[in-house]
Amino acid sequence: MDPISHATLRVATPDHGASPLPATRQPLPSRLPGIGTTIFSVMSALAAETGAVNLGQGFPDFDCDPCLVDAVSAAMRAGLNQYAPMTGVPALRQAIAAKLQLLHGRAYDVEREITVTAGATQAILTALLALVQPGDEVIVLDPCYDSYGPGIALAGGTAVRVPLTPGSFRPDFDRLAAALTPRTRALIVNTPHNPSGTVWREADMLRLQELLAPTGVWLISDEVYEHMVFDGVPHASAARLSGLAERALIVSSFGKTYHVTGWKVGYVAAPAALSAEFRKVHQFNVFSVNTPVQHGLAQYLADPRPWLELPAFYQRKRELFRTGLGATRLRLLPCEGSYFQCVDYRDLALPERDLSELAFCEWLAREIGVAAIPLSAFYGDGFEQGVVRLCFAKRDETLRAALARLARL
Ligand SMILES: Cc1ncc(COP(=O)(O)O)c(C=O)c1O
Repeated sequence: MDPISHATLRVATPDHGASPLPATRQPLPSRLPGIGTTIFSVMSALAAETGAVNLGQGFPDFDCDPCLVDAVSAAMRAGLNQYAPMTGVPALRQAIAAKLQLLHGRAYDVEREITVTAGATQAILTALLALVQPGDEVIVLDPCYDSYGPGIALAGGTAVRVPLTPGSFRPDFDRLAAALTPRTRALIVNTPHNPSGTVWREADMLRLQELLAPTGVWLISDEVYEHMVFDGVPHASAARLSGLAERALIVSSFGKTYHVTGWKVGYVAAPAALSAEFRKVHQFNVFSVNTPVQHGLAQYLADPRPWLELPAFYQRKRELFRTGLGATRLRLLPCEGSYFQCVDYRDLALPERDLSELAFCEWLAREIGVAAIPLSAFYGDGFEQGVVRLCFAKRDETLRAALARLARL
């Protein structure tokens, strides 16, 4: 222990004479004041309490391919149960690099530019802790995944929230340009988008590239739904454009692609210098990720069919769900990707006028028997637009059961 730590210890020794309460009984100053239980836990608890079909939280209610479980089990039985290398099992990093090369034509160095993470949430927090200095600004596009804001706060930065265009949820580049300041350290972009289901086109990425070109802004590109893009539209990864790839940490998650959200394994692909800083934080954050799961994923990734077939798999579910919802008075918003369908409920004859999105979700769970998530939960300022999010990563029976209930609307 260094001398400073000793000094700190002496100062921190409780002094009952000087203080009316021992330190452990005084209120704990919060690193995240104002943050409570997430809406996802709240709505899942409500679904359990009311017996509602849970289309709230975003996870499949069906199992993954048994071949994947076999591959992980085989790795465990083969004794691959100790710490993995800090950056990830080489075979998995190799498979990730090969896929990025195949899909986006970019060669990431397996040794220096690919890092396996404990899911995308850890990857994003680690990226923020690595990049952001106290006082820095990080731009997020509202509505956005709920970990971004707290991650920025934990890194000592300030979240600058730029709304996506209300109604279409497309990026508003004029507002984005206006939000850039000399203090902007990073921007977080997410396509396909949770919660709106919109997908950025190549033209959007080119605009983004142009906008960021004169800046030193880093890009955290959250691409966890990369394989859930419908109607033949390609996924516009930041890896496809040199001007973005050179400043980007591309984040993905095997949880989404392989129906194993509980495994929490993902990765970050980024240029060597960026990866080096990322890894400095990663090694003291998780150090390394579940070994047998990495070996199983490495083997499974060698077969491209599962991810090649994923768009069609989810597009069929989207059709089933949208067709059923079409018989209700809910207004369907476009769903170009992800496994989320947003609906506008303002045309319904509701028991009360101007029901907030949260109040509507509570009513929907209790009275109709379906759990959803209010879109306001994805906005820093709780913006209300009469829209809620439903997840269709569910068995067909689950979707049909939900649709039978929603048919009352
Ligand atoms: C946009 C987005 N990013 C990141 C994540 C987190 O992924 P993981 O479960 O791998 O941490 C999610 C999960 O819902 C998400 O929707």
